[in-house]
Amino acid sequence: MDSPAPPLLEFVVFWRDEMRTFELPEQGEVTIGRAPENRIQIEHPSVSRRHARLTLGPELVIEDLGAANGTFVRDRSCEASLHQTRTMHQLTRTSAELAVGESVMFGEVTALVRRATPAPTRFGELDSELNQASGVVVRNRAMREVYAQAERAARASISVLVLGETGVGKELLARAIHARSPRANAPFMSINCAALAESLLEGEIFGYERGAFTGAIQARAGLFEAADGGSVFLDEIGELAPSTQAKLLRVLEERKVTRLGARQPRAIDVRFLAATNRDLEAEAQAGRFRSDLYFRVAGLCLTIPPLRERPEEIEALARCFLDAALSQLERHGTLDFSDETLSILRAHAWPGNVRELKNVVERAVILCAERTIVPEHLPASLLRRTRPSEGQAAPAAGSSLDPSPASAGPVLAPDAWQAEMKDLERKRLLQALEQCGGNQTRAAELLQVSRRTLVSRLSEFGLTRPRRRDA
Ligand SMILES: Nc1ncnc2c1ncn2[C@@H]1O[C@H](COP(=O)(O)OP(=O)(O)OP(=O)(O)O)[C@@H](O)[C@H]1O
Ligand SMILES: [Mg+2]
Repeated sequence: MDSPAPPLLEFVVFWRDEMRTFELPEQGEVTIGRAPENRIQIEHPSVSRRHARLTLGPELVIEDLGAANGTFVRDRSCEASLHQTRTMHQLTRTSAELAVGESVMFGEVTALVRRATPAPTRFGELDSELNQASGVVVRNRAMREVYAQAERAARASISVLVLGETGVGKELLARAIHARSPRANAPFMSINCAALAESLLEGEIFGYERGAFTGAIQARAGLFEAADGGSVFLDEIGELAPSTQAKLLRVLEERKVTRLGARQPRAIDVRFLAATNRDLEAEAQAGRFRSDLYFRVAGLCLTIPPLRERPEEIEALARCFLDAALSQLERHGTLDFSDETLSILRAHAWPGNVRELKNVVERAVILCAERTIVPEHLPASLLRRTRPSEGQAAPAAGSSLDPSPASAGPVLAPDAWQAEMKDLERKRLLQALEQCGGNQTRAAELLQVSRRTLVSRLSEFGLTRPRRRDA
């Protein structure tokens, strides 16, 4: 159950509102393309099946493998500063050196290499205003109370169940509890109850003896034994299969584990932390989750409020993620948010909570080649879900997590949204062309899309190919 060394670099790919991250090895080659055999698979029609190759060593080198829509890198011969439009240059079966934070385009998809951030493990004062050392933001009253309770619970060995919507920070809190507990120097073992198939999960958590099943060629300690003296985090515990629930209950009651295929149980000393975004008490009442197990894991329940209920944390969180993203790209302190952007961030409903905010900021940092993050750098979903009035923190109307009609603001019907977005896009196209005197290549660069995309959008909008305008 050794945890692999954290990656040093990662590869970020994004198009429109989608963004995906791939871990990179320290050394060697990885191929990039649409086919599944590529380590970095980009399922986008503008990407070739085998598009490019990235070599990692002392230097980063990107090589085009004859891709139909080209591989483009920044032209180093033209020393544009950060806030100037960048010139791209095409690689055709050739290679170029790539710096951390420098973008490269595969067809219409943009990507870059950035430094990976390790998961936070150490925490200072949990309930401080903005915990800069750990990067944990706790400002809202309810959040302070949750963290204060966690701090008290950390010292005892009571099992804690962390509840809250997706992306609110449940794992972060569980790690904080471990880090503030007397077990801090022993392992924190996390197991995702949803991701593992039933039989595999059992072997992983309980361990097995040699010959317990086909393929068990040698005995192996399970996760509970490996976590001895530390904490076990049962993530997404609400997804646990019924038969595994029964076995887990026995472990919690007896503090002993029996490896698969073993006769004798072994004593373990672990503290249990768990998390779920389900209402586990209701699940137990409805008979979908064992109530005896529920009472064992929920010695103390801590509920993290959704981000829309703690608007005073949004800006601090956004700044915290901005700093982290800039340092990953080695662009420290070069960017800030415009006031309008901050208003949009504060007014958004954040159905994906803190994780969604983090992704939005990371994406904006990558998209923004200037010094200020403006609304154009935010995903369309934020622009259309925001209320028109500034600085309001109530949930935006139409959010899937906002079932209460009483709290709903003005709702734009999906068709109207689409029309509004189209109109916005049309204006942006025209504006960019205007700025570039009708030069499509430069307008495409300005909009950070390929020229092909620009041309196809223009024809979609019925805009005739503009001619270069006279000054
Ligand atoms: N208060 C906070 N301060 C700083 N970063 C935070 C805070 N809360 C959450 N994050 C960050 O947001 C991301 C999501 O947090 P985390 O993984 O703990 O959420 P989760 O509730 O476990 O999500 P899921 O339900 O999807 O498993 C992580 O990158 C985490 O570091
Ligand atoms: Mg989680």
